[in-house]
Amino acid sequence: MRLFKLPFKNNKEDILGESESRLVNIPKHIAIIMDGNGRWAKKRGLPRVAGHREGMDNVKRIVKAANHFNIEVLTLYAFSTENWKRPSKEVEYIMKLPIDFLQHYLPELVEENVRIQTIGEIDNLPKNTKLAIMRAKEETVNNSGLILNIAINYGSRFEMIQSVKEICQDVQSGKYQIEDITESTLEERLYTSHIDDPDLLIRTSGELRLSNFMLWQAAYTELWFTDTLWPDFSFEEFEKAINDFQKRKRRYGGI
Ligand code: IPE
Ligand code: IPE
Ligand code: MG
Repeated sequence: MRLFKLPFKNNKEDILGESESRLVNIPKHIAIIMDGNGRWAKKRGLPRVAGHREGMDNVKRIVKAANHFNIEVLTLYAFSTENWKRPSKEVEYIMKLPIDFLQHYLPELVEENVRIQTIGEIDNLPKNTKLAIMRAKEETVNNSGLILNIAINYGSRFEMIQSVKEICQDVQSGKYQIEDITESTLEERLYTSHIDDPDLLIRTSGELRLSNFMLWQAAYTELWFTDTLWPDFSFEEFEKAINDFQKRKRRYGGI
C-alpha cells in the first residue's frame, strides 16, 4: 500500500502511526469531469468513439484507485444535459457504454463492495441504458464500500430549477412559508441530497471550466486541473491530485 506524505511538519506520522497518517485529510468525495476522449482519439487518427471506449476502460482503473485510497464517494461526469447536442451517432455510442461497462465489470464491482448510484435524469435515457443502470443500482444497493456515483444526463441548472419548482409548489400548497426557505430546503431537493458536497473536483483535458457540473455543490470544493486527456489519466496522477488536496488549506470564508 502506498503511503501519503504528510504536508505537515509536526510529526503527525509519529503520533498516529503509518496506517492512520495515510488517512489524514483524504477527500471523502471526489468528483471528476472526465474530459478529452475525443481529442485522445483525434491525436491517434481514430474516430471519436474510440476515445469514449478507452475512456470507459479508464473508469475501471480509477474506480479501483478510489477504492484503494478509501474514498467514500466518487462522482464521475459521464454525460451532460448539453451533450445531446452532439452528432446522434456519437450520442448513441456513448449511451451504449454503460451497458457494456456494467456487462463487463458489474461482477467485479460487486466483489469490490462498490455501490452504484446516479445523478441526472435517468428516465430520459434510451430504455436499455436505463435498464442496465437500474439493475446495477439494485444489485449493489446493499454494498457498503465506495459509492460510484455516475452523473449521466446531468445538468446542474436543470437540477436547481427542478428543486426551485418543488419548493414553489410546497409554498403554493401552504407546506412552507417563503421565510422558511433555507439552504437546506434547496439542498434536500437536489440529486445529491444524500451525499456530502465534493471535497475535490478534478477536470482532465486542460479545460478550466465546470460545464454545468455541481454548481451548487462545488461552492467550497477544491479544484484540480490537468492537461492529461481522460483515457490517459492514471493511478499516479489521481494520487498526485489527492496529495495536492492534502496540502490545501480550506477556510470556508474564515481566516
Ligand atoms: C468527454 O470527452 C466525454 C463526454 C463529454 C461524453 P469529450 O468527448 O468531451 O472529449 P473532447 O473534449 O472532445 O476531447
Ligand atoms: C463536460 O465535458 C461533460 C462531461 C465530461 C460529461 P464537455 O466536453 O461536454 O464540456 P465543454 O463542452 O467542453 O464545456
Ligand atoms: Mg469535451
